Amino acid sequence: MAVRLFEGKDHAASYLQYRVAPQELISKIMDYMKKKTQNQFKLAVDVGCGSGQGTILLAPYFTTVVGTDISPAQLEAASANSRPPNVSYRECPAEELPFAAGEVDLVTAMTAAHWFDRPRFLQEADRVLRSGGCLALLSYSLSMTLEYGDVSDALNDICKEFYAALIPYRSPYLGPSSMNIYLDMFNSCTYQDKEWNECLHVKRTLPLRGYIGMVKTFSNYQKLKEKDPAEAERLSNDIQNKLLSAMKASSPDTEVTMVVHYFYWLACKP
Ligand SMILES: C[S@@+](CC[C@H](N)C(=O)[O-])C[C@H]1O[C@@H](n2cnc3c(N)ncnc32)[C@H](O)[C@@H]1O
Repeated sequence: MAVRLFEGKDHAASYLQYRVAPQELISKIMDYMKKKTQNQFKLAVDVGCGSGQGTILLAPYFTTVVGTDISPAQLEAASANSRPPNVSYRECPAEELPFAAGEVDLVTAMTAAHWFDRPRFLQEADRVLRSGGCLALLSYSLSMTLEYGDVSDALNDICKEFYAALIPYRSPYLGPSSMNIYLDMFNSCTYQDKEWNECLHVKRTLPLRGYIGMVKTFSNYQKLKEKDPAEAERLSNDIQNKLLSAMKASSPDTEVTMVVHYFYWLACKP
């Protein structure tokens, strides 16, 4: 079973605006690939590419990069965004990739594989990868933290309140821990050559409204919004106001540092 979400145009537009793919993770993937495989970087496929922020970061390393997604709205947003000439997008399920067996040098899924039919996706990635090709799955904990002057602890108590209010809206498909989903996938991958990386902290400076906007792209916030739009708006406004008050700031354009805890795994097909 896979899950259909992320279909709304507004949701896709927020993705484009607020989700930022980390170059730090792409560098880790490419360092691994360069160590493991011959100099053959023809085709990378970014599965569940959403609006393509991560996909375009692969462009400098490959002759061709294809982002695939099941959501037409996400792909429309990706195509509307500027992209290097070697990047294109295809609509297809992660479990049925439109590539020949052994054609692909790198398969990535960035903050997406937890939504897939995971055993079928792993089988499909194995089918399309060439021998020596690599698989890279990454995601992050939804409990990002904020740093701002000497009030970071106070801000993080407020952030925790935000996340706690969204827990009841978490998809049952994900279970209680996203990291465990990735660990289970890692354990089920039969490649000998694989590595699990539990913690990479990535920092981003962004306006407070960017942090709030990012949490609003999460599926649990979207679920709340679908059920009770007024409550969703009240909650995000209330959290933003509490954060501003703790910061002694008046504008949501005030910049904060957001710390995101990524986990990822890499594997090389024998
Ligand atoms: C959380 S978003 C991540 C998007 C992007 N990779 C990023 O890092 O911002 C997950 C994406 O996976 C896509 N998706 C979910 N299930 C899928 C499936 N079975 N096949 C293909 N794409 C899928 C969704 O449409 C969505 O665009």
